[in-house]
Amino acid sequence: MAILVVGGAGYIGSHAARVLKRRGYEVIIYDNLSTGHMALAEGFELVVADISDSASLAKVLGRVDAVMHFAAHAYVGESVVNPRKYFQNNVLGGLTLLHAVLDSGVRKFIFSSTCAVYGIPARVPITEDTPRSPVNPYGITKLALEHALEAYNHAYGLRFVSFRYFNAAGADEDGRAGENHIPETHLIPSAFEAIRGERPSLEIYGDDYPTPDGTCIRDYIHVNDLAEAHVLGLEYLSQGNSAKLNLGTGRGYSVREIISTIESVTGQRVPTRISPRREGDPAELVADPRRAETLLRWRAKRSLEEIVATAWNWAQQNSAALKRT
Ligand SMILES: NC(=O)c1ccc[n+]([C@@H]2O[C@H](COP(=O)([O-])OP(=O)(O)OC[C@H]3O[C@@H](n4cnc5c(N)ncnc54)[C@H](O)[C@@H]3O)[C@@H](O)[C@H]2O)c1
Repeated sequence: MAILVVGGAGYIGSHAARVLKRRGYEVIIYDNLSTGHMALAEGFELVVADISDSASLAKVLGRVDAVMHFAAHAYVGESVVNPRKYFQNNVLGGLTLLHAVLDSGVRKFIFSSTCAVYGIPARVPITEDTPRSPVNPYGITKLALEHALEAYNHAYGLRFVSFRYFNAAGADEDGRAGENHIPETHLIPSAFEAIRGERPSLEIYGDDYPTPDGTCIRDYIHVNDLAEAHVLGLEYLSQGNSAKLNLGTGRGYSVREIISTIESVTGQRVPTRISPRREGDPAELVADPRRAETLLRWRAKRSLEEIVATAWNWAQQNSAALKRT
């Protein structure tokens, strides 16, 4: 079975590509390298093109059985100040991809959605039945694609799984792929940058939240646990199903707990600075992952320590080199 991994030169997509390959799938990566890295696609067939390029899509879609769509802009703050960029790429580009998929006859589609579709939930842990009410343009663009997938499933039989990721973190255990966003906004790699002196300190956005230590609580899930869910998602699609599923661990950690785990795993102190809260940052976002666990027979297996250790190993060995590619 051949899979088109759109956005496969990026962080999560490159891990999915690796897990697919290890399980015997044929993988073609499609990426415009806007935020991805050529090095992460090494060892794979790579088509360098944009999701808004219908002709390039048509050529490659004729060779695959299913599509995984990771390509998007994904900075919440940037989406607030430059929403046009987000609607252009995530919605217009995403729909161009979806339409090319429909035209090609492919009927299996896996979409990278986000817990940002829930906005500020009334209750945690968050189940999939929580109303979708995003509070920033990024989340709205992801919700728009979810709506299109629901309608296309109904009208055209396009089977889909929309995975709502919580906080992806960690790196491949083989040390050959990991996180490298430029600029980096995610907590764990940002803390490593602070340790290495590449930024003056790690900013903690608010320490007066109604949580036990005052800092925000999030659900960190190892990127290979996410990747493995995608493979099971393909099997689920093959049985003719569609679903919208949370991918998280069900366990939340505060920013201070993450910092203290980083300090104990790396043996280094993380310099920190308290900054004001960011607008629209809920105190606590934790998944209820039971639906994915039941439907896919999947479970996030890797611990927070494994997340930090694999990310640290990757950051030590590779990230400086990747920053130049
Ligand atoms: N990282 C997280 O914690 C997280 C959480 C929730 C959802 N997501 C979603 O998961 C997906 C992957 O996130 P990531 O962290 O791996 O991001 P990333 O930026 O590392 O990867 C995105 C990839 O898509 C490619 N891309 C972007 N626009 C494209 C276009 N128009 N045409 C072709 N390729 C294009 C980029 O070059 C990059 O390789 C995104 O859709 C993001 O919204 C990520």
